[in-house]
Amino acid sequence: MTDSITASAPGKFVILGEHAVVYGKPAIALAINRRLSLSVTKCTEFRLNDEPADVNSSPHLKNILSRYDMVPVSVRSESRIPAGSGLGSSAALSVAFAAAMRAVEGMSLVPEEIAFEAFEAEYSAQGRGSPMDTSASTHGMGVALNVPGGKPLWEMEKNGRSWNVVGIDVPKMTFVIGYTGIRASTGPLVEKVRKYKDGNRFAADIVDDIGRVTLEGMDAILRNDAVRLGGLMTEDHKLLSILGVSCRELNRLVDASLPHSYGAKLTGSGGGGSMVALTDDPEKVSDAILSRGGMPFVVKTGVEGVTVSARRE
Ligand code: PMV
Repeated sequence: MTDSITASAPGKFVILGEHAVVYGKPAIALAINRRLSLSVTKCTEFRLNDEPADVNSSPHLKNILSRYDMVPVSVRSESRIPAGSGLGSSAALSVAFAAAMRAVEGMSLVPEEIAFEAFEAEYSAQGRGSPMDTSASTHGMGVALNVPGGKPLWEMEKNGRSWNVVGIDVPKMTFVIGYTGIRASTGPLVEKVRKYKDGNRFAADIVDDIGRVTLEGMDAILRNDAVRLGGLMTEDHKLLSILGVSCRELNRLVDASLPHSYGAKLTGSGGGGSMVALTDDPEKVSDAILSRGGMPFVVKTGVEGVTVSARRE
């Protein structure tokens, strides 16, 4: 008999602060009620969803397995987080696997260690990134980077950069994510903002404004003030548009959502990917997004982070 470990980790979206966070400004990500779960069992060869697999084709899993001398495991996965839509599916995979492997090896499930190992896996697979996604998926609720206040969670460092991550108690709120169907890589968009900012004093002011809006947004979340938070989201979308990271499709979905929302904005790196609207009327917003060619997902915040359970097979 072997122990099968099941770990479940939530997806996330960035509610405020993307792009400006690259320059040390605050950013906030919220965990959502769409989760990825993995069952992991020790085995004689590496298997993915009951088929023998090459671990080199799963760089996130490989990075985590390298902590355990590449011990062969069988991994079954099930995900309700759409891949490539900016909802943190790869971070949830890394977090769930990091937690599951610690349990498989009988190690303690320290959230800081899980978040760190998952961040290392993401960083090695993507060659960049901040610990925002993996921290949100590990901790659940919400996390903020580069803010004063909040509940201190952990500090992470990589290649001379450091991030101070705090936890935020997030109320249950309803958002609709609208996926444009366009996959856009983060790297070129971050580079575009860097070039604009380096050559233009005005762009640096916009980055400062995003920082201010994000700090006000943290206060609005803590006070459960949807009207204020929505207004700040819309303001942030305008600032991100000026920075050049929105696109026609995102603007169309944001515009269509606004009449039925407290506010709406692109989320994540932009250029495609997804937008998010804060609303009490998710059906109307979903219909509006569908009618403009987007793919809507209703999500709720205020959810728990990674969980682990064991079963004897
Ligand atoms: O696309 P996401 O959800 O991983 O967010 C990217 C956020 C950026 O600020 C654009 C980049 C970064 O590494 O923080």
